Amino acid sequence: MSHLIAVLNILSDGRFHSGQSIGSTLGVSRTAIWKSIKKIRQDWQVEIQSVTGKGYRISGGLNLLDADSINSTLSESTQTQLYLLEVLFSVKSTNQYLMKKVGSGIRSGHVVIAEHQSAGRGRRGRDWLSPFGQNLYLSILWEFVEPISGLSGLSLAIAIAILRSLKKAGISDAGLKWPNDIHWHGKKLCGILLEMKGEESGAWNVVIGIGLNVNMQYDHSEVITQPWTSLQQITGAVMDRNTIVVNIIKELFEVLEQFSKKGLEVFREEWILNDVTMNKTIKLHTAQDTITGIVRGIDDQGALVLEVNGVSQHYHAGEVSLSYNEPLC
Ligand code: BTN
Repeated sequence: MSHLIAVLNILSDGRFHSGQSIGSTLGVSRTAIWKSIKKIRQDWQVEIQSVTGKGYRISGGLNLLDADSINSTLSESTQTQLYLLEVLFSVKSTNQYLMKKVGSGIRSGHVVIAEHQSAGRGRRGRDWLSPFGQNLYLSILWEFVEPISGLSGLSLAIAIAILRSLKKAGISDAGLKWPNDIHWHGKKLCGILLEMKGEESGAWNVVIGIGLNVNMQYDHSEVITQPWTSLQQITGAVMDRNTIVVNIIKELFEVLEQFSKKGLEVFREEWILNDVTMNKTIKLHTAQDTITGIVRGIDDQGALVLEVNGVSQHYHAGEVSLSYNEPLC
């Protein structure tokens, strides 16, 4: 693994490097480099060009995640909330990684980010496509002492944290889609997945997973079943993922602290203001049914408030899709 990482580090500058020169830098043969390139392409789906007479190149280079740079850019107050930041090259799922460690001494404020996930998890049992080095796959462990009922609105509050960080980065027209998607003009930009484990003490360990499309540009539409976009597509520029991580961690910690003390209530108004489906007719797909109604906001538990045939109904689970192709913005 460390050998593959060394090859990638050399190629991350976006220039051509011959197999010979990479091999002599790393003290291995040209054939060994060729095998590494093959493995990197296969295992991590990194697009590496090879041109006869020039060598190998990653077009556009790679902006790799860098724990030192992230740690040193975090403000002092955020650093005190951070228990540990781990940067992994490849993992099945950052959520699974943290869930497995719960109960083995890890603490609230443990953050894991990865360049690649081989089995990224999405909501409702779906996969989360996680190509190497392009997006953000981040999970954070947080311990709550309250009973589980108080946590139902947490995923909505987390979406607010991400939205705040995006707005500060200049993405002003992103919005929220219940329960916790971030959308931009009808396309999904970010998804959030919460997984929980209870303790005998009554405390709850929550792993909060965030998948944000940052520099993904290829058409993965055959794998992704819904319209998607990325920060690069929105801004037209390659985004620095290390800066994005710093901003997200800061906003996440602030929201988590506030949510631990006051619950969802303090975020409700902001949620409703940013809900891209507000007052629109939607379809809510639940395990049993599909309900058509007009979105009228969320309640203090984070349930979706739908007006169905003139009557207000509250729903705690389901998937929202727009009815009659109304534009989302
Ligand atoms: C969704 O389906 O909208 C939720 C997607 C959540 C994906 C993130 S990526 C980091 C973390 N690790 C995972 O396996 N899933 C979450």
